[in-house]
Amino acid sequence: MLTPLFLGLAISLSLATAGPPISPRIAHEVRRSAPARWTPVRRAGPDILLPLRIGLKQSSLDSLESYLLDVSHPESPNYGKHWTPAQVAETFRPSAEAVEVVRDWLLASGLNSSKIKLGPTGGWIQATVTVTEAEDLLSTEYYIYQLNQGDEQHLACKEAYHVPQHVSKHVDIITPTLHFDKKIKRSDPAGSIPRIAQFGTGSAMEMLVDPVEDIGSNATGLDNCGSQMTLACIRALYDFEYKPIATHKNSIGIVEYTPNVYIPSDFDEFFGNFSASQVGQRPTLVSIDGGTLDVNETDISWFIEPNLDLQYAMGLVGKEQKVTLYQVGDVIGNGSFNNFLDALDGSYCTFEGGNDPAFDGIYPDPVPGGFKGPNQCGGAPLPYVVSTSYSDDEPFLTPAYMQRQCAEYAKLGLMGVTVLYASGDGGVASNSGDCLTEDGQEDPGAPRFLPSFPSTCPYVTSVGATQVNPGAKLTEPETACDQHIFSGGGFSNVFAMPDYQKKAVRTYLEKYPPPYAPDIYNATSRAFPDISANGANYLVVILGSIFHVFGTSASSPAAAAILSGVNDARLAVGKGPIGFINPAIYSSAFEGAFNDITNGTNPGCGTNGFSAELGWDPVTGLGTPNFPKLLQRWLDLP
Ligand SMILES: *[C@@H]1O[C@H](CO)[C@@H](O)[C@H](O)[C@H]1NC(C)=O
Ligand SMILES: *[C@@H]1O[C@H](CO)[C@@H](O)[C@H](O)[C@H]1NC(C)=O
Ligand SMILES: *[C@@H]1O[C@H](CO)[C@@H](O)[C@H](O)[C@H]1NC(C)=O
Ligand SMILES: *[C@@H]1O[C@H](CO)[C@@H](O)[C@H](O)[C@H]1NC(C)=O
Ligand SMILES: *[C@@H]1O[C@H](CO)[C@@H](O)[C@H](O)[C@H]1NC(C)=O
Ligand SMILES: *[C@@H]1O[C@H](CO)[C@@H](O)[C@H](O)[C@H]1NC(C)=O
Ligand SMILES: *[C@@H]1O[C@H](CO)[C@@H](O)[C@H](O)[C@H]1NC(C)=O
Repeated sequence: MLTPLFLGLAISLSLATAGPPISPRIAHEVRRSAPARWTPVRRAGPDILLPLRIGLKQSSLDSLESYLLDVSHPESPNYGKHWTPAQVAETFRPSAEAVEVVRDWLLASGLNSSKIKLGPTGGWIQATVTVTEAEDLLSTEYYIYQLNQGDEQHLACKEAYHVPQHVSKHVDIITPTLHFDKKIKRSDPAGSIPRIAQFGTGSAMEMLVDPVEDIGSNATGLDNCGSQMTLACIRALYDFEYKPIATHKNSIGIVEYTPNVYIPSDFDEFFGNFSASQVGQRPTLVSIDGGTLDVNETDISWFIEPNLDLQYAMGLVGKEQKVTLYQVGDVIGNGSFNNFLDALDGSYCTFEGGNDPAFDGIYPDPVPGGFKGPNQCGGAPLPYVVSTSYSDDEPFLTPAYMQRQCAEYAKLGLMGVTVLYASGDGGVASNSGDCLTEDGQEDPGAPRFLPSFPSTCPYVTSVGATQVNPGAKLTEPETACDQHIFSGGGFSNVFAMPDYQKKAVRTYLEKYPPPYAPDIYNATSRAFPDISANGANYLVVILGSIFHVFGTSASSPAAAAILSGVNDARLAVGKGPIGFINPAIYSSAFEGAFNDITNGTNPGCGTNGFSAELGWDPVTGLGTPNFPKLLQRWLDLP
């Protein structure tokens, strides 16, 4: 049943000769300019073969949001009644009509039917075509693009591609077309900021500050949390003293992208200092698409993110609760968010055209050292809470690509998964300091704010960063982080504002109108972050030394550990996990359950960014967790 179906020649020919529907061609996807640092150098050769993939739209997608709210809104009678993976796969399968319309269009355009294949489960149609054929089909021109005038090349079409109107409404995305190579890896083409490890080509970045020689009483004491953040400090800050009881039912996952890996021996030193009962503990490894810890890297920057995420997630949930590490992608670093999602949900692999070779790892990988197995489709365990401290710049991806991925986060929410993403460390700019020009180009000197994805997807929970001010007591309110990083926040240019946050965001914009012209940020779209947690001065053991690490990269796993505690308590009394939390946390049922942050800003793009104020704000969201209050609110829900 899962083998590709070859389309019947006879039927297709008769349909083609009967005359296909005629409708005007319309632009299906548009990108006004190539991403920063990519330039077209020449037309693509006419005979180059392209694996054209046409992703089909799914009709029930219109209902996705209402399905999700039905199980996530605290006032819904179905709150907490999450779906099974089978229900999700069945509900969103593309219609037979979509398959037929697209197939007929390809045949009528003169493609030999032997070249056209329907993917398994009917989510996409693939045709191997020449550049000339693709250009005719899509009324576009293909070019070879070069990165930074360097060796890295990419084939993409220019500005837009077109399909007949009656086809467009059944198609979600066609590749390869406008999409650019931007895998989740650590290299920063701008390379502007020394001593900072950047993740996700300018994503969650942290800063390492001088190794700490002797932590002495600071390991457990609470007097220096303003300069040395520890497990004890986080517990005290958020009143998170919780002994888990349903650990056999509960689950929490951390996602890392190879070659970023943790160093096992560092964990014993970390636990030895900060959580002695956990010495010897390691995360449970789930390897996806060749994910391995054996990367043969020596540069410290590859170890910061995983060591930080896992030392704190494991230390905070404590000895009894296992933490799953999803190690994604081969050592070459081709794994992407989509590779992770494929492994969690097999139906996503083919959903709307499947992955995009321009952004995602395609396996088996032909390059030497690349993973030779097939792309993993399903099979990885679904965690109840999952934290990712990697991100991308919204303008680098295309809207269709982001919408497809965002829909998958909604599906995870439907299945009861809480998806947390770090909001980024560049304030209202990108992690590498880029902003947006009027025509949507990334540029460090440009005026428009640049949001990060997936934080702008309304179906994830985006986590910003706070700090204990230097010298301040733990009882004093935290501030938006301004040491080494600024809490990522702002407004999407792609996703509309979801209903659940409209009241909170409008209140902010009315009471504290930001002093910016309307073209600087898009006040009608999805605003982030949703919540925040401390992201300053984390003591992390890396390569045998203790460093201070900063970033929303730290905030996200800390928040995940705290939310996992809530799940534990709910599971212990026979309730389900909290799943997609946004509709609940913005509702009146959760008023006052977060510590509101009202001091600080998130500068960027030559401005002060936004300011933290009473209530929700685009710097620290609703605030930091108050565990006992959150626990009570969630235990009160069915
Ligand atoms: C279609 O392709 C098949 C296999 O390559 C070939 O045998 C056949 O002649 C082609 N048909 C047309 C109409 O080009
Ligand atoms: C604890 O941290 C503070 C602030 O960094 C430092 O001044 C102090 O010396 C530390 N205490 C010990 C015992 O190391
Ligand atoms: C605590 O950290 C220090 C500094 O990295 C290290 O020398 C020491 O061995 C650690 N203690 C334990 C018990 O692991
Ligand atoms: C690890 O790197 C070293 C130095 O670059 C190299 O000699 C060695 O072959 C590598 N080992 C593996 C397993 O790739
Ligand atoms: C994997 O990454 C390498 C290095 O960036 C690249 O050469 C190769 O084409 C990538 N493979 C795939 C399948 O994208
Ligand atoms: C603002 O966001 C909306 C979606 O919320 C979008 O339709 C519109 O194009 C965006 N405007 C700009 C200038 O990006
Ligand atoms: C606000 O935060 C700054 C540091 O960013 C700090 O110097 C100041 O004292 C704080 N103000 C209040 C009222 O807490």
